[in-house]
Amino acid sequence: MTTRVAIFISGGGSNMVRLVEDMQAGGHAGEPVLVLSNDPDAGGLAKAEARGVATAVVDHRPFKGDRAAFEAALQEALDKVQPDIICLAGFMRVLTEGFVAPWEGKMLNIHPSLLPKYKGLHTHQRALEAGDSEHGCTVHLVTPALDDGPILGQARVPVLENDSPDDLAARVLVQEHALYPAVLRRFAAGDMRPILLP
Ligand code: GAR
Repeated sequence: MTTRVAIFISGGGSNMVRLVEDMQAGGHAGEPVLVLSNDPDAGGLAKAEARGVATAVVDHRPFKGDRAAFEAALQEALDKVQPDIICLAGFMRVLTEGFVAPWEGKMLNIHPSLLPKYKGLHTHQRALEAGDSEHGCTVHLVTPALDDGPILGQARVPVLENDSPDDLAARVLVQEHALYPAVLRRFAAGDMRPILLP
């Protein structure tokens, strides 16, 4: 029995690529069945196709802020492939309770901060402004509250003198690429014990 995994992206999809490659490496309970983007120009779509994964686009813009209709279209795309798990991987749309509630316990997200610190946007800038000596990323289960929900894994990086937000983002991204596949590998096999890296 494989666990069918859909991955939602909005951009370059580097985390998605790591998840797909890890699932395709074998010995993994998960199987990538769909990469879905809300942006037709997302670079990750071609990367998914190159790896033999089906793709879909549900552009949020024609819905003009009608979140319920947008989310109904997302669900319709999912219904065609019947995933067991959704991984949000750089998906930059806020999902409402109407979409999240039926997926609770089955939808993961990666967020570029050590939650509960810095929910929302500009996490690297905010860590620098706060003078933090460490920063990182978190994989968590998605609940209706933004960037909340039980933590499945965290990875830490040092904040170095004279770091720019881009420097810090790049250092965190390296850890995201290690953390998210490790968490999904466990989660797809039914193991919810948190992973702490390094
Ligand atoms: C990643 O850093 C991810 O943590 C972040 O977007 C980036 C996507 O990169 N996600 C969020 O900020 C979600 N609120 P990727 O497209 O190369 O995986």
